[in-house]
Amino acid sequence: MKIPFVDLKAQYSGFREEMNAAVLNVLESAYFVGGPVLEKFEQEFAAFVGAKYCIGVANGTEAITLAARAAGLKQGDEVLVPANSFFATAEAISNAGATPVFVDVDPVTFHMDVELAAKSITDRTKAMIPVHLYGRAVDMKPFEALAKQHNLTIIEDCAQAHGASIHGHTVGSSGRLTCFSFYPGKNLGAFGDGGAVTTSDLELMKRLRILREHGSPVKYQHSVVGLNSRLDALQAAVLSVKLPHLHRWNAARRDHARKLAAALEGSPIIAPVIPEGDEHVFHLFVVRCSQRDELKHFLDQKGILTGIHYPVPLHLTGAYQALGAPGRGSMPVTETLAGEILSLPMYAEMSDEQIAYVIHALQEFIHIYKPAELMEISGAAV
Ligand SMILES: Cc1ncc(COP(=O)(O)O)c(C=O)c1O
Repeated sequence: MKIPFVDLKAQYSGFREEMNAAVLNVLESAYFVGGPVLEKFEQEFAAFVGAKYCIGVANGTEAITLAARAAGLKQGDEVLVPANSFFATAEAISNAGATPVFVDVDPVTFHMDVELAAKSITDRTKAMIPVHLYGRAVDMKPFEALAKQHNLTIIEDCAQAHGASIHGHTVGSSGRLTCFSFYPGKNLGAFGDGGAVTTSDLELMKRLRILREHGSPVKYQHSVVGLNSRLDALQAAVLSVKLPHLHRWNAARRDHARKLAAALEGSPIIAPVIPEGDEHVFHLFVVRCSQRDELKHFLDQKGILTGIHYPVPLHLTGAYQALGAPGRGSMPVTETLAGEILSLPMYAEMSDEQIAYVIHALQEFIHIYKPAELMEISGAAV
């Protein structure tokens, strides 16, 4: 059996007719940039997350850059960024002119460690960007307290957590700047690049609309230097067809996650914690294993594709090393995780048979590699 890492063809076959009609409708209208199809999706997505406004942009990276600019971040400002995230979280802050300051993460939630964040604050710290990584919503309360104490802006990176919730609140419903990616493999993905910022702040919404459109409130009048960063109508049409399915897809991912986690219980392959009552949307199902590379190779041989998110901590990337980020040993949790984490296949359309096949392969691996040996190493990990 072959188990892909994600299966976008299986997803498409679930709404082929409706999707084809929506795309054709845009082609017939010839209204490709802006217009009613984009506005419709923006309203639907704002309602979905529980924010007043949604501003569709070109991709998730620019969603963060635009949010940082709308928040007034500038050269010399420091922004706290978790060391374990996709490169874009930091890159977007750098592209807005500010400086990412990396903070180590919590080994259970994989989120930015709030106590270490507090210790990283200087006179130049102006913002922080908690990342709702792998589909698990960050507990924002301690970050909100810290932000209040030090007068910091919070920008949320929600590229991996569309529809996730915590304490009954959907991510995005805080009303503050929340940034989404609609890259095809995301829980809500377009047929190309796409992104959005949601907010409930009227002023920020206005600034974002101007910034995404060449800094231009009225055509050919440019009040600031902005970007050309718009979500096009074809992608908006695709997203409008997919959005009504998102809760069901997220529930299916959670179901798969529960089965995988139950099968791994007590084993040396450590499953992610599934938070009680909160809605983790399992963009990625990330396990930890001291013999990660062997496990990856073993699953590969069985036709099961996996990924590593992320193999190089952000502070250790060539890009940020060249910019003076701290070296190896400075973020021990993230650095250990980078050698132990493995993302198993995860998508809503996985069949029971596919899940059973993955579980069987994991159990085989556990039997082949001496559990005691695995336990010892993984116990000493973080
Ligand atoms: C955590 C995180 N932030 C930001 C991004 C950037 O999104 P995009 O690829 O749409 O630019 C991604 C996605 O790839 C991501 O996973």
